[in-house]
Amino acid sequence: MGTRCIHGGDTVDAATGAVMPPVVTSTTFRQPAFGEPGPYVYSRASNPTRDALERCVADLEGGARALAFASGMAATATVLELLDAGSHVIAPADMYGGTLRLFSQVRTRTSGLQFSFVDFTDLAEVERAIQPNTKLLWAETPTNPLLQILDLAGTVRLARECGALVAVDNTFATPCVQRPLEFGCDIVMHSTTKYLGGHSDVLGGLNVVADAELGKEMVSMRSAVGGVAGPFDAYLTLRGVKTLALRMERHLSNTAAIARWLDEHPKVVQTHFPGLESHPQHELAKRQMDGFGAVVSFVLSGSVDGVGRFMNSLEVFTLAESLGGVESLAGHPATMSHSNVAPERREELGIVDNLIRLSPGIEDVDDLLADLDKALAAV
Ligand SMILES: Cc1ncc(COP(=O)(O)O)c(C=O)c1O
Repeated sequence: MGTRCIHGGDTVDAATGAVMPPVVTSTTFRQPAFGEPGPYVYSRASNPTRDALERCVADLEGGARALAFASGMAATATVLELLDAGSHVIAPADMYGGTLRLFSQVRTRTSGLQFSFVDFTDLAEVERAIQPNTKLLWAETPTNPLLQILDLAGTVRLARECGALVAVDNTFATPCVQRPLEFGCDIVMHSTTKYLGGHSDVLGGLNVVADAELGKEMVSMRSAVGGVAGPFDAYLTLRGVKTLALRMERHLSNTAAIARWLDEHPKVVQTHFPGLESHPQHELAKRQMDGFGAVVSFVLSGSVDGVGRFMNSLEVFTLAESLGGVESLAGHPATMSHSNVAPERREELGIVDNLIRLSPGIEDVDDLLADLDKALAAV
């Protein structure tokens, strides 16, 4: 994987030999003769810098084709464009709040899609939700913010029976840890804003498609709707991907050490991390993933005031939205990523007000543990 991050998709510029592809800002391309366009016509359809990023990530995920978007949400929205009005989608109740908002508040109203949100860790519940018009099973694993692990092979079996597509938000895992297409899934979606970009300096999204025909359909939908990644963003993201495997090694080891430490801490009521033997899907995670991902969430004991004291005492971790950058971030799902989910619904799902989500970066783990120790002492 380390080699493929650097050489995957052969991103050396064929025209000049530049080892990093040039940032091609031109929006349009000269046509050699009337009726005979060259390989590039107009940048909304395709662009050489964006193509290089797409070839590299298609290689990492083992897909026929990848498509880069302006954000993770633009990538997700374009998956929905493959569906006709009246189609039914099954998705996990626990998933990124922005995806939940797009599905339940936007596309239900504007595209006539129907959604069922289920406990996706229970495949019997997913099966019970299948309807004659079910066209897509949308999975996110590990889930945001509770780090549940969903069974990809089992989901594919159900989808094959009802003729639906399976799309997986693989943002939390990255292709270094989990490659859903190997389990028969049809589409992998990434917010490249997170680990793939890796430096908290570029927003982006990607869909990788297993089948070339489906890839063509998605290219056509992306051109129609227009949420493409710009060339500078594509360049920065590709630059990030080059070090993905190296960064993930450190993210994974730091997070595993922090999760074990938190799990033992007297001020922590519950630790959500699939690498812990106590995690309900630990065995599944071992089968499905190479490592356990690099996000950990935990419930702080005591009143909700303690969350503020914890956050305000952190010095190495930064209180901020997002995850997956080289710097460690601490987030509060109830007021950040899941603030658009109704409080009663959050409580039902386990996204309690005392839940804190950490995205350990690649700093020295001893400094991260000392920072958490000091902040927990202040609670
Ligand atoms: C799991 C997951 N999917 C999708 C998104 C949306 O990505 P973006 O912010 O790049 O639009 C996020 C953002 O936090 C996320 O955490």
